[in-house]
Amino acid sequence: MLPYEKLEKIAYGGDYNPEQWPEDIWEQDMALFHEAGIDIVTLNVFSWAALQKNETEYDFEKLDKIMKLVHDNGLKVCMATSTGAHPAWMAKKYPDILRVDYEGRKRKFGGRHNSCPNSPTYRKYAPLLARKLAQRYRDYDNIVAWHVSNEFGGECYCENCEKAFRVWLREKYKDIAHLNTAWNTSFWGHTFYEWDEIVLPDLRSEHFCGERTMFQGISIDYKRFMSDAILACYVLERDAIKEVLPNAAVTTNLMGFYKPLDYFKWAKEMDFVSWDNYPANEDSYTKIAMPHDLMRGIGGQEPFALMEQTPSAQNWQPYNALKRPNVMRLWSYQAVAHGADTVMFFQMRRSIGACEKYHGAVIDHAGTKNTRVYREVAALGRELSAIGNRFLGARTRSEIAVLMDWDNWWAIEYSAGPSCDLHYLDEISRYYDALREFNYSVDIISPDMDFAAYKVIIAPVFYMVKGDTDEKVRAFVKGGGRFLTTFFSGYVQENDLVVLGGYPGKLRDILGIWVEEEDALPQEAQNGFMYRGTEYPATLLCDLLHLEGAQQMDECGYMQDFYSGMPVLTKNAFGEGIAYYVATASSGAFYREFLKDICDEAHVAPLMHTPKGVEVTCREKDGKRWLFVLNHNEQAAEITVDAPAVDVITGNAVPAGTFLLQGRDVLILENSSAMQN
Ligand code: GLA
Ligand code: ZN
Repeated sequence: MLPYEKLEKIAYGGDYNPEQWPEDIWEQDMALFHEAGIDIVTLNVFSWAALQKNETEYDFEKLDKIMKLVHDNGLKVCMATSTGAHPAWMAKKYPDILRVDYEGRKRKFGGRHNSCPNSPTYRKYAPLLARKLAQRYRDYDNIVAWHVSNEFGGECYCENCEKAFRVWLREKYKDIAHLNTAWNTSFWGHTFYEWDEIVLPDLRSEHFCGERTMFQGISIDYKRFMSDAILACYVLERDAIKEVLPNAAVTTNLMGFYKPLDYFKWAKEMDFVSWDNYPANEDSYTKIAMPHDLMRGIGGQEPFALMEQTPSAQNWQPYNALKRPNVMRLWSYQAVAHGADTVMFFQMRRSIGACEKYHGAVIDHAGTKNTRVYREVAALGRELSAIGNRFLGARTRSEIAVLMDWDNWWAIEYSAGPSCDLHYLDEISRYYDALREFNYSVDIISPDMDFAAYKVIIAPVFYMVKGDTDEKVRAFVKGGGRFLTTFFSGYVQENDLVVLGGYPGKLRDILGIWVEEEDALPQEAQNGFMYRGTEYPATLLCDLLHLEGAQQMDECGYMQDFYSGMPVLTKNAFGEGIAYYVATASSGAFYREFLKDICDEAHVAPLMHTPKGVEVTCREKDGKRWLFVLNHNEQAAEITVDAPAVDVITGNAVPAGTFLLQGRDVLILENSSAMQN
């Protein structure tokens, strides 16, 4: 949980690097922060080299000064541990800290996020620094949270990682015979007799052509292992802090749908989830919303921290377009609408050198408050102060869950066949987008989480069904739930070995179908089907399926090819519930129509009916509700509310009826009940 005992309002601020500046600038910063309503700074993100000169000598003098400065100026601190980039002296003296890349090249010193997660040097000195920081600053009550390292990620293929991988495998499989079975090593003569015959799967061994693998078993296990190894580094630092400060709120900044790290596992080790939101200007609002819902989901639907966003431009996109006027405000409220209880930026002051000198900042190179960006930041600061603590900690309630699973992601995208165009997140987006475009509240959860709160569960491309997850789905549907899954589901168990007897494997009885074959369509090809009198395209993959108790829902099956007439959409009454199957990929219009029908049948209602481009979410606390109405259009949109409410941003009463919400404007309606358009 976020440290609510130390927050009086939505925390507002961000990454602040005074160590890059002479001290006379610091006082200017303080004045500008104060005027903009900034109340929190993340300090010390990349100071390891400055803080530690060699194995034994540390120098906290500058950080002491900075801490005193921000404390005396009434700022809260999110204290980073600085371990996101190791010092040059350490790399020179202890090269085990340097990573080996996917192509087998030993890295030299440079960049950041560059330490080998299995390096004894890194595992010794990173937690040591975290502990020293906790000891030194333990009495500062303005430290509200601890921020371990920065954007953990990447991978390493060094010898230490290879040895650690073997240890990890030994713990998992115990006996090498079990490993041989799990990886199906009788294929291509891969039988292993000794653990040290196993090497890391990279471009020198099992991999080829970018990310492709010849042995899914080892490659998926390597992903799991690397995610665990990096997580272990986070845990070492967290525990070092907690030895000194048992009640510290510890986090690390995550990155939304970041493929290398299984964030469902990570979140279990974090006191609260925080993440960095860097959409591109052209992203749809549902695309920007989805990772927010994931970040809320990994933390069990608890509110999270928006740790970073740019106030204006980024520097690492090919074209670093400015956030248009009011977009920073709109996207800040969007984060809050989806569960964020902080609004924080990278960065507070734009640096003068290296690759982030043209990254947007609250204080620009001009150094004054006379900029568009500063004015927008200050205006939002005033609004957040006015909003105060009213919905801090407020929760989101959804009757629909979309399942997401990292193992499944890795397995689908390592699969050789059926289609190189099959991308897990695209398939999730098809369903998520359609639901959100209607303003249905959606949670994103893992298959391991509790299903009890949901009426509808959607599992796009539920390819890998691990352990007895099928039993969970079976119980959910039997008990009256509605479950939907798609093509390429139920094929394999947790080791990526095919479940024999016909697809979709263990889900077959629940869905009441048997999938015999699967046709991959090239991009230019498409089939079609009719649903409720409209023809929709069938693209990407087309299952050739047989009914085994399920009912066909489309009107005439596929419209072309040798499998024309075979069912595309099916529905199976199972126990008290219903299981749906969608045998192909289609257009947005189809998903909207189809999902609306399913939700109607399940008696799940959208939060509010709005014109296109107007997003609505809801948060609840202590019997109160807040509806967030976000107009993502440039133009004004007509909104209809059916009960009077108060907009907590302006304090204005909003009478029942229809009115215009300006382009890119936001309303937060307190205590309004159901609304209709
Ligand atoms: C990430 C990092 C920051 C900064 C920003 C720039 O989120 O955590 O240190 O580099 O990107 O967008
Ligand atoms: Zn390594």
